[in-house]
Amino acid sequence: MAYLIAANWKMNKTVAETEDYIQRFLPLVEDTKNVEIMIAPPFTSIFVASQKLSNTDIKLGGQNMYYKEKGAFTGEISPLMLTELGVSYVILGHSERRHIFGEKDSLINSKVLSALEHGLRPILCVGETLEEREQGRTLSVVERQIRNGLAGVEAEMSRIDIAYEPVWAIGTGVNATPEQAEEVHSFIRNLINEISKGNDQGTRIMYGGSVNENNAESLIKQPNINGFLVGTASLDPERFSQIIKVSQEV
Ligand code: 13P
Repeated sequence: MAYLIAANWKMNKTVAETEDYIQRFLPLVEDTKNVEIMIAPPFTSIFVASQKLSNTDIKLGGQNMYYKEKGAFTGEISPLMLTELGVSYVILGHSERRHIFGEKDSLINSKVLSALEHGLRPILCVGETLEEREQGRTLSVVERQIRNGLAGVEAEMSRIDIAYEPVWAIGTGVNATPEQAEEVHSFIRNLINEISKGNDQGTRIMYGGSVNENNAESLIKQPNINGFLVGTASLDPERFSQIIKVSQEV
């Protein structure tokens, strides 16, 4: 499967800034091969992004969603609202959703189920805090997040991607070393192979956490790193396109 290189803009960029970004980004990536590109703008920018990207292979993602189709859920966005705009991916269980907004594995699992039902491809985010790593609990935390987050959809594994994002590496400028990331990625690969009974060939395990144009190459060279979920460096079209370029050359 092609690597998936995805931009998570988080709470950044107005509509005008989104238009400007895409205009500058498209010429930088027009020759891209063998790599799938996805951008997850804030909800308010999805409509304009969808129009600007309509004649390209670049995919759109939601950064979150609620699992119901509609109703009295103030402030939430439904899977139908995303699919109507041509969105094909949705990031679920991001560490900022877990730690700032208190999302638990059971809610994230409902969202994964709903995304699949509506034909959206979930990117389930997992990762340990610094404290959990220092206590030697990295693999058990990641295992719990994956088993609970994917409960009931193990047979659908090929329709799901996973992002390993150690919390201590997000937005800190301290990325996991390639060896640290590979250790967790190979653990995740074995785990999803087991729970899906070998049906995980279509699943990309992406790394996220201070990915930039300088460290991308050594990370993507690891055998079990199949893409990136990029925050800060994705906000600059030049830097994001560099990460894409490096990844397609490996
Ligand atoms: P940074 O690239 O800013 O560390 O963010 C990573 C991330 O959380 C992507 O989802």
